[in-house]
Amino acid sequence: MSKQEIVTRKTVKDIRKAKDGTPLVCLTAYDAPMAGLLDAHCDLILVGDSVGMVVHGLPSTVGVTMEMMILHGQAVMRGAQQAFVVVDMPFGSYETSSDQAFMNASRLMKETGCQAVKIESGTYAARQIEHLVERGIPVMGHVGLRPQAVNVDGGFRAKGRNNDERDRVIAEAKAADDAGAFAIVIEGVAEELAGEITSIVSCPTVGIGASASCDGQILVTDDMVGMVDWTPKFVRRYGNLKSEILSAVEDYAADVRSRNFPGKAETYQLKKSGA
Ligand code: KIV
Repeated sequence: MSKQEIVTRKTVKDIRKAKDGTPLVCLTAYDAPMAGLLDAHCDLILVGDSVGMVVHGLPSTVGVTMEMMILHGQAVMRGAQQAFVVVDMPFGSYETSSDQAFMNASRLMKETGCQAVKIESGTYAARQIEHLVERGIPVMGHVGLRPQAVNVDGGFRAKGRNNDERDRVIAEAKAADDAGAFAIVIEGVAEELAGEITSIVSCPTVGIGASASCDGQILVTDDMVGMVDWTPKFVRRYGNLKSEILSAVEDYAADVRSRNFPGKAETYQLKKSGA
């Protein structure tokens, strides 16, 4: 391979640059083909624990395991060559102690080759973030609506709409920033609060349902390409893949039943003797 052909991945330095103005483009991926499609267009690909709901049919992300994150992380790393790849730390893999967080984060990095991990960061998680960063593991924080806390919250709902919650979300973001997070996802908060956090913290913020006041944006790719019936208000649909797949499946089923598939073009014939 010649020198020009070597494509290098984006690094944490490239991601941090977003604070200077160019918005970060981020999406989720869980497998190699999707990662390959996103690679040239995204600064950052997140192997989100949303994989539990989107791919495995779980009711929330609480049931996601380290093994699931490793398997999907490995697939995404095979598919993406340029984007910065972050793998989510699943519920139960970091909350107990800094040692537990390091053991599991280092396992994610070693077994997938990903460049960073993401932690849903209540203020208590600042200790874990600092511990990981000091030991060479870049960490992305995640504040506001934290899907792993769905059972405490009693559902998925926007955060920071009253003063107490607002102060709490700001404290979470500051704690993650002070602990050394290289970027912070802000999920499901009002524009004013997202703007305030973005101006307070030194690292870039990446919004999902958090307005254009963030330094970058992320969506769950399956929502964005129209693979699901219902999406939250903050999702813009750029495709309608579900209905395209359904119509292809319906056409295939009809063709098989009417013996219209396979046809001559899709059928092997015996080779003529002597050929
Ligand atoms: O798991 C996930 O996909 C996420 C994004 C929604 C930011 O955390």
